[in-house]
Amino acid sequence: MKRLQGKTALISGAAKGMGAAEARIFAEEGAQVIVADIDDAGASAVAKDIEDAGGRATAVHLDVSDAASWQTAIAEGHKAFGNINVLVNNAGILLMKPVQDTTESDWDKIFSINAKGVFLGTKAVLENMKAAGGGSIINISSIYGLVGAPSAAAYQATKGAVRLLTKSAAVDYAEFNIRVNSIHPGVIRTAMTEDILGDPDVEKAMLGTTIMQRAGQPEEVARAVLFLASDDASFMTGSEMVVDGGYTAQ
Ligand SMILES: NC(=O)c1ccc[n+]([C@@H]2O[C@H](COP(=O)([O-])OP(=O)(O)OC[C@H]3O[C@@H](n4cnc5c(N)ncnc54)[C@H](O)[C@@H]3O)[C@@H](O)[C@H]2O)c1
Repeated sequence: MKRLQGKTALISGAAKGMGAAEARIFAEEGAQVIVADIDDAGASAVAKDIEDAGGRATAVHLDVSDAASWQTAIAEGHKAFGNINVLVNNAGILLMKPVQDTTESDWDKIFSINAKGVFLGTKAVLENMKAAGGGSIINISSIYGLVGAPSAAAYQATKGAVRLLTKSAAVDYAEFNIRVNSIHPGVIRTAMTEDILGDPDVEKAMLGTTIMQRAGQPEEVARAVLFLASDDASFMTGSEMVVDGGYTAQ
């Protein structure tokens, strides 16, 4: 039995990086995947790859910062594959600036995607999950939502917000059999970090206290997301799972 057989999953920011890895692994495990992203061409390419490999996927346009866009994306996904059982709030952007260099517009923009996007997604999927008899929401926070780091003030604030929004939603929706957990990836090799990890000195600084002394691959996070999405994690809600090569262990 595949681990997500019969389940429908919507993954935001699934056109590349960790979201795309989650989409592929979820499909291999039997899920019908709604590949949602602001990048329509990228989302369509991921959905096509999945279908070509024998899986089931559809691409939908989604701007996570826009409530109306969530309504449309969920309606389209529902039309294709029925009630949504799993939501991965994965879409996010990075901003490496300390407080004094962060403008108000930087702050508002990153909050609208990384924090408000998770709030809007959770709100938009609730009726669907209730109708399905329950579900699993996985919010992608970061090690930067747990501990401080240089020059990432606004980003860290958004990821800290996601950590506690996760616990709040876990408390409120347990009665509907909806589990809500956060994942805290360490430094992962994706488009988001390719510039930083391209320079060996910067990479060493960025890896910081990572015990394993390497960046992670998107699939190494996607496997943890798969676990939380599946019924294997049936007694887990409100938890924070680090997938960080030991960054936060010391
Ligand atoms: N890469 C890392 O080292 C790392 C570490 C910890 C946490 N994270 C978090 O993991 C998540 C995925 O990161 P990634 O490294 O795969 O990034 P990525 O840049 O490779 O991919 C992010 C995806 O999100 C999409 N996106 C951006 N804004 C959007 C919006 N408004 N609406 C819908 N989609 C939007 C992009 O088009 C892209 O496809 C993010 O939330 C990120 O903050 C990343």
